[in-house]
Amino acid sequence: MPYIIQISDTHLFGDKNRKINGSNSYENLKLVLNHIAALNERPELIIVTGDLSQDCTFESYQFLSNLLDKTGIKYYFLPGNHDDVDILNKVFDFQWIKNEADYSIEFKNYLFYIIDTSLYPNDYGELSGAQLLKFEKYLNENKNKQTIVFMHHHPILIESPWLDAMMLKQADKFNSIIKNHPQIKAVLFGHIHQVVEQKINGTYYASAPATCYQALAKTKMFTVEKHTPGYRIIEINGDKFNTKVIWVE
Ligand SMILES: [Fe+2]
Ligand SMILES: [Fe+2]
Repeated sequence: MPYIIQISDTHLFGDKNRKINGSNSYENLKLVLNHIAALNERPELIIVTGDLSQDCTFESYQFLSNLLDKTGIKYYFLPGNHDDVDILNKVFDFQWIKNEADYSIEFKNYLFYIIDTSLYPNDYGELSGAQLLKFEKYLNENKNKQTIVFMHHHPILIESPWLDAMMLKQADKFNSIIKNHPQIKAVLFGHIHQVVEQKINGTYYASAPATCYQALAKTKMFTVEKHTPGYRIIEINGDKFNTKVIWVE
């Protein structure tokens, strides 16, 4: 069955030995990619949902590009709140320009819509009026195509006030668009370094774990969760999709 992978929050440094909250983000990403390379069937795509770098150095983005290139699997990505797109644009061919960069990928019976919620250096998520208009227009023009949206920030409350303070600012507007377009089967995001999965009005909202460190769920303040890295698999089976999280031991 064809499937793709979502990885998120790689938080790489320009120095491969640096740790973040006790985890070596470079080594952890390597573990995750090796795990993916060892899967029985090869994924057709990898989508990285933001917070690619922790220090926004040119080298950190180069490390990411090198590691992803080495897998030989086609990949796409979008920026998170930790990413300086001006540096990112120097490493990757793709040019991230707010309001213009959102794009879509056709995959089997599905469309994947990649939307940029980052507004560096702010931690919260931001979708401009122009982005929302473009998104709605796109959905209206593709009503008969099942769609999965990929983004960095969470558009739903997750009961951790410190994280909910940096969720997508325009969540109400965004979710009303989702509700009005039943072709959207899932909204997949990162940013929260933990797994949430919820079905709202028939749409599946879910996060991918981080590849670096995880955060404990439902906490008043940031607390590291001692947990291995993980990633999400999305299987496309005709008109249906299936998704699950894989933890890397
Ligand atoms: Fe992150
Ligand atoms: Fe983030």
